Amino acid sequence: MNTDQLEQTVSKVFVRGKGLLAADESAATCQKRFDAVGIACTEETRRAYRELLFTTPGAEEYLSGVIMFDETFWQPTEHGQVFREYLKNHGVLPGIKVDKGLVDLPGFPGEKISQGLDGLPEQMTAYAGAGAKFAKWRSVIAIGDGIPTDECIGANTLVLARYARICQDVGVVPIVEPEVLFDGTHTAEQCEQVMARTFDILFQTMRAFRVHLPGAVLKTSMVLPGKESGMPIDHDDVAERTVRILREHVPHDLGGVVFLSGGQAPNDAFLNLNRIAKKGPHPWGVTFSYSRALQDPVLKAWAKNRDAKKETQDLFRHQLKLASAASHGELDESALHTDNFVSHAQDL
Ligand code: 13P
Repeated sequence: MNTDQLEQTVSKVFVRGKGLLAADESAATCQKRFDAVGIACTEETRRAYRELLFTTPGAEEYLSGVIMFDETFWQPTEHGQVFREYLKNHGVLPGIKVDKGLVDLPGFPGEKISQGLDGLPEQMTAYAGAGAKFAKWRSVIAIGDGIPTDECIGANTLVLARYARICQDVGVVPIVEPEVLFDGTHTAEQCEQVMARTFDILFQTMRAFRVHLPGAVLKTSMVLPGKESGMPIDHDDVAERTVRILREHVPHDLGGVVFLSGGQAPNDAFLNLNRIAKKGPHPWGVTFSYSRALQDPVLKAWAKNRDAKKETQDLFRHQLKLASAASHGELDESALHTDNFVSHAQDL
């Protein structure tokens, strides 16, 4: 394992003011998102939409990397340059999502396990050879009546640790994502307890499986009350709980921490990140790895008028700018409340 190479990649991810674009929605997830805004979901529309995002002028000022789905990883721009080359030439690290999605965990109703370890060493060798610098694997942990069980957490963290070590053996930085779901009626306290338990088991397992922690990144949810709990999001409370849980349960020699937006309203995802960053300095780099918070308004605008390329890319850059400012605690929160940029762009 080349630990220097892994740590160098990590340092490129956590450049101040930059973060990751998660554009690794599977074809099935894309179908849902495109259906919601009335766009036909085909290989070509997925390609064209990703091209719109990746080729946004100036996006590279805010993006250190992009996570792609396998299909996108091999696709070209309309001018015939493969996306991963385009990104690399713009100083943006190409990344690849490698889990094969979720299935039920037999014997544990309501709980899931991610698939994809079979054949992964060979696939990772191919991705690394084609220029992937980092990878992502998503597991989910649901909170509900009697769940998560330790067996579910144990099964998922075992898979995450094995995946991480497979990546590192071919020089690719693993992003390990045990997403504690926002869905549910749980309290913020319950979320905090589940995240603590998940992190404890995850990092114990990663150490046991000889993962080089400074060459690995955690992708995590924030500590939130469940989406259906009826409890409002208090940004200071989210920041306080999230920072506490990370400091106490995430090893300080880990490469870094990135956040998913998890279905929060984009402004909540930006405000929460801003408050989290303001509580720094943290033991590791902290930044965003958002899909929906960056993309939702952009996808809506694109669906309304596919010819308004410049305006739609301006909107994407605007979302990136907010996430970037939030990642170092310098988001102008008052501008966010009064900002009508998004609603204006939705009228395109
Ligand atoms: P969201 O920001 O929409 O949660 O997506 C991030 C991600 O990559 C989840 O795996």
